[in-house]
Amino acid sequence: MEQVRFGIIGIGNMGSTHCAGFMAGKVPEGKLCAVCDISEERRDWARKTLPADVEIFENTDQFFANAKVDAVIIAVPHYFHPPLAIEAMSRGLHVVCEKPAGVYTKQVREMNEAADKSDRVFSMMFNQRTNPVYQKVKELLESGELGEMKRVIWIITNWYRSQSYYNSGGWRATWSGEGGGVLLNQCPHQLDLWQWICGMPSRIRAFMKYGVGRDIEVENDVTAYAEYPNGATGLFITSTHETPGTNRLEISGDKGKIVVENDEITFWRNRVGEKEFNETYTGGFGNPECWKINVPVTGPNPQHIGILNNFCSAVLHGTPLLAPGQEGIRGLSISNAMHLSYWTDSWVDPSNLDEDLYYDLLQEKIRQSDFVKKTSAVTLNTEGSY
Ligand SMILES: NC(=O)c1ccc[n+]([C@@H]2O[C@H](COP(=O)([O-])OP(=O)(O)OC[C@H]3O[C@@H](n4cnc5c(N)ncnc54)[C@H](O)[C@@H]3O)[C@@H](O)[C@H]2O)c1
Repeated sequence: MEQVRFGIIGIGNMGSTHCAGFMAGKVPEGKLCAVCDISEERRDWARKTLPADVEIFENTDQFFANAKVDAVIIAVPHYFHPPLAIEAMSRGLHVVCEKPAGVYTKQVREMNEAADKSDRVFSMMFNQRTNPVYQKVKELLESGELGEMKRVIWIITNWYRSQSYYNSGGWRATWSGEGGGVLLNQCPHQLDLWQWICGMPSRIRAFMKYGVGRDIEVENDVTAYAEYPNGATGLFITSTHETPGTNRLEISGDKGKIVVENDEITFWRNRVGEKEFNETYTGGFGNPECWKINVPVTGPNPQHIGILNNFCSAVLHGTPLLAPGQEGIRGLSISNAMHLSYWTDSWVDPSNLDEDLYYDLLQEKIRQSDFVKKTSAVTLNTEGSY
């Protein structure tokens, strides 16, 4: 095989962006061969926009039965990610799953079990793991450069979304269509990076508000406090209604403090680790000598294209994946733990959460919803987002 033949299920905002990547020749080891969407309007778009040899299917039954593809990109609303990934794997297809891995971990666990049994390549579309900035921060922690982590604070309030965004699709920001708000739609990237860089917290307590300044029924303002096995603490703050927002990651460790903001890494490096300083310093007031370092980072984030090229390389040459599919459950576990903590007003261990209780409480939210959505289904340009 010289090129991976791709099919894309769901050609809305994200799926059409993936189509554009293929058409621009940015995925040289991949070829777009088929698309599938239940929307007549989107299939019309495909007929007018995509090369004539790209097959167009109106439902997944027809797609799975007939599409001549090796791999599928799943770019439909989140609830459908696990069942479609499982179906694709059972038909011997390689899978790229859009974020989040699913809505609830119970469902994603089944997807991971299917992936464990399959010999197909399975990747998550975590197009922030391709960002050299976060790759460098991960390396600084793993190499011990920062010393033992003491605290991590991520303020990610620049996911600004206006009412018109929420109105652009009936499934958006509803319990039944999306299963949550900012934690399920915008923050899966940061929740994944958070655990990728800092590891899984041992327990979480979260507070949230639904529909701040927006006519939506789910959370768009979250503050979560986390504790780590080594005693370190964490804070994760996100919203979609503040502007200008902030995207600032600060991690402090024994040997200093790393701050990521505006895609730049600043490392305030202690010449002597804090623990050693404390044990040896006799002067009362005083701090270790500290150097401010601008950590160089090479190249821009190749984003979705980077994940797709890595995926093709994994299929064709056995290259390790940047975002193995089975890892999608980790960030989702943190997100589910935040909701469960808020719903039950208690601590939750994300690696050991009560999945049945989570599922039952989510179903209750869906049953009790009397939210009526005013929508005008439109496909938006994803440029400027990430
Ligand atoms: N990685 C990223 O940066 C990124 C960015 C945006 C969206 N996403 C993810 O992509 C997914 C889709 O989001 P979107 O904004 O493109 O949504 P969208 O509503 O614009 O597009 C979804 C498309 O899927 C189609 N669809 C729905 N159910 C289907 C089914 N069963 N079979 C075939 N087609 C079906 C719809 O008709 C629609 O055209 C979401 O899970 C979202 O989180 C990821």
